[in-house]
Parts: sequence; structure tokens; C-alpha cells
Amino acid sequence: MDRILVRPSGPLSGDVKINGAKNSALKLMAACTLAEGKYLLRDVPNITDVQSMAELLRCMGLTVCNLENNQIEIVNPGNIIPEAPYEQVEKMRASIVVLGPLVSTFGKARVALPGGDDFGPRPIDMHLKGLETLGVRFNSEHGYIEAEAEKLTGARVVLDFPSVGATENVMMAAVRAEGTTVIENAAREPEIADLAAFLNRMGAKVLGAGSSTITIDGVNDLVAVEHTVIPDRVEAATYLSALGIAGGEINLLGARADHMDMLCQKLGEMGMRISSDSTGLWAMAGQGLRSVDLATLPYPGLATDYKPFLVAMLSVADGVGIVTENLFSGRFRYVDELIRMGADIRTEGHHAVIRGVVKLSGAPVRAHDIRAGAALVAAALKAEGETEIRDPHHIDRGYENLVENLKNLGADIERAP
Ligand code: EPU
Repeated sequence: MDRILVRPSGPLSGDVKINGAKNSALKLMAACTLAEGKYLLRDVPNITDVQSMAELLRCMGLTVCNLENNQIEIVNPGNIIPEAPYEQVEKMRASIVVLGPLVSTFGKARVALPGGDDFGPRPIDMHLKGLETLGVRFNSEHGYIEAEAEKLTGARVVLDFPSVGATENVMMAAVRAEGTTVIENAAREPEIADLAAFLNRMGAKVLGAGSSTITIDGVNDLVAVEHTVIPDRVEAATYLSALGIAGGEINLLGARADHMDMLCQKLGEMGMRISSDSTGLWAMAGQGLRSVDLATLPYPGLATDYKPFLVAMLSVADGVGIVTENLFSGRFRYVDELIRMGADIRTEGHHAVIRGVVKLSGAPVRAHDIRAGAALVAAALKAEGETEIRDPHHIDRGYENLVENLKNLGADIERAP
């Protein structure tokens, strides 16, 4: 088992290129099941989650080729198998987003139920309820959901909560439904707008993505297209937190400040300086952060995916910060790892109280999920001695070159076998 070893580092300096967004690329790949033909996706990160989605598409009969410069070519031969086996869904629960496009294209789909994960229960009731409103019938047997529909009919779908996955599944089903679908209380994440732009390029008629009301006029014909994935705001947040902890001055090439308003505001309150231009973001951090309180919310609120980084920063900030998690009840597991490194954190339900300490202390810790793992790497930049992060394969699910990139910025970090 390999590990990531980190020693105290900083100040960081230099440029880092931000990759395409994982959570957009995966959905665009799923959308390639909607129409026959050859697709080209640019700026697709070379990470294991993308490989898992590629494997799933191959199981269904599509061809996926990695080309140079982070491009992938996907060929949909038309007669694909509308089924997502458990072996694939188990590796990556985002596989559930193939349900909507498959049932709308083939009138049926068989997709393994994803189950819970490290964040706690991860229900898909809103995905199913939304698709049912469009006319899909479900039967659940032997760990699989079987979906069937003679035809899909546009309808008004009101989501209980602006779920990213449910919005995407309903949107991809509705593009081929007869008539107009309106999704109310839709998720507003930039990745939703990117998916809508991709679908519209294919010939769909999606209006309002990025707002909480999305209107989709169903069409019969969709075609394969080329598309460039938007930059990964969570990857950008990762380097910003590393900078906040280690100090220094860096450029995040390609990052979009307009996708990260709340984060930039919070980091400003913590004492960092951030500005943007057409090439990306410039950020600077001195030696010392101020504590703030924060709460995660659906976009444009502060993303739950940023939270592990902010908790890592608060662990070494001056003062006390209260963090409230409003999306995933179980998303505090990594806190125990930070405590092993000397952080002073108490959790109670979906709240955490973090009293900043002057220095952390290096220790062996475990990466429980993608973001938690990356947050431990960032925290380790201000930990005395050596921190050994185990299970880095979780980090590989979402980061193409985290270790290399931090090393290029001047961090004392390596991957050891
Ligand atoms: N929820 C339900 N029922 C549903 C769907 C969601 O109760 O049918 C609840 C969830 O349990 C959660 C909340 O609604 O409490 C929000 O979940 P959402 O559906 O928005 O999340 P998701 O689509 O499963 C995506 C990202 C996550 C990110 C969340 C929130 C992907 C592949 N994943 O998940 O990203 O945290 O949105 O922004 O897009 C990551 O990248 O590491 C990651 C976990």
C-alpha cells in the first residue's frame, strides 16, 4: 500500500493548473449514453473516478479512449445495454446518473442501488420521485432498480431539496420526454449549467440551468458533440487551503472566481488575499489565519466539499470557529484524524467547534474519502515532523496530480511505496 509523506512546508509559490471538474466530467460522460455517435470531451481529469465511469460505459457497449492532453473520445454505437452492474456502482455512487438518460433513450434501465458511504446514508428517493413524475415505473429487486416507461411525458417536478444528482437525472431524462418539463428547486451548481450547455449542444432545449427553475422542452433528435469541461472549483479550493495553511503566493491557472464567490469571501475573512483575471486566480496568505464561523449550503452557498479544507485551516487559525454541516450528516469522520495530529476539535451532531492551535504534529492518518484525504495533506504542511497519509487511493479518485503539484509549489511532499 503506498502512502503520501508530508513534512512542514512553506511558503508556497508558483503556478498550478486547475483541471476540469470531476463532478462535471462524470455527468457529461453519462450523457453520452443519450445519442449514437462520436463525442470528444476536453479537460477531463485523469483520475480514478473518470476511469470508473469509462469502465461503466464500456460495460454498456460504448468505446472510451484516452487521447493526449486530457481529452477523451467516446463512441456510442447506438445499440448499448442499458444496465449499470453493482461492481461499477459500488466503486462510484455517481454512476446512478446513468439512470435518467438510459430510461429516456431505451424506455428501460437496470441500475444497481448505490447504498450508503462514508458520509452516512445517501438516499436516491428524489431521483426516483422526479423520474416517476415523468412517467417512469420502478421495481427494486436483488439490489437493482429496474426502470420502465413506454414513453416519458414532460411534467412539473418539484424537488424536496436542490439535490445535484436528482436535478441531473431528471434533466437528462426530460431532454427526450414529450412536452415540457419544469424542475423547481433545482440545484444551481456550475456543474449543472455545464451539463445543460452540453445537452443544448447535442440539440436539447434546456433553459434556466444555474437557477432554481430549469425548463426543458423535449426533442426527438440528439447528436454527439465536442465539449470542454469547466474547471474544478473543489480542486482550486484544495490549493487555496494548502496556501492558507503554509503561507505564500500562488496562481491557480484556469480557476473561475465566479464559481467560488462564497469561498473567496470566507478566505478573505480568514486573512487571505485573492483576486482574479482572465487567466485564473491569484492568492496570497501570510503566516497566520483568523478563525471564522461557517455553514455548508447548496450552491451558491459554501459547498460541503470545501468543508474538510476549511476545517483543516481552522485547526491552525487564531481563535475559535464553529462549522455547521447541512448536507451530509456523517461528513465529519476525518476530524478524528486531524485530532490525531493535535487539532482541538469537538463535534456535536452536525456542528464542529474548532479551537486553533499554533502547530499540528505529524502522525500516521487515514484518508477516508477524496476531500478528507486532500485536507489531511493540506493540514500536514503545518505539522511538526512527518505526516503519513494512508489510503491515498481515495485521493486519486478526485485528483490527477496533487502530490506533484504541491511539490512544484515548494511543498515537502512525496508518494512512497
Ligand atoms: N438526498 C436525498 N435524496 C436524494 C438525493 C439526495 O435525501 O434522492 C440528500 C443527500 O443525502 C444529501 C443532500 O440531499 O444530504 C445533497 O445531495 P446531492 O444529491 O446534492 O449530492 P450528490 O449529487 O450525491 C454531488 C457531488 C458531491 C457533493 C454533493 C453536494 C457528484 C458526483 N458528487 O453529490 O461531491 O458533495 O453533490 O454538493 O457530483 C465529491 O466530489 O467528493 C463529492 C462528494
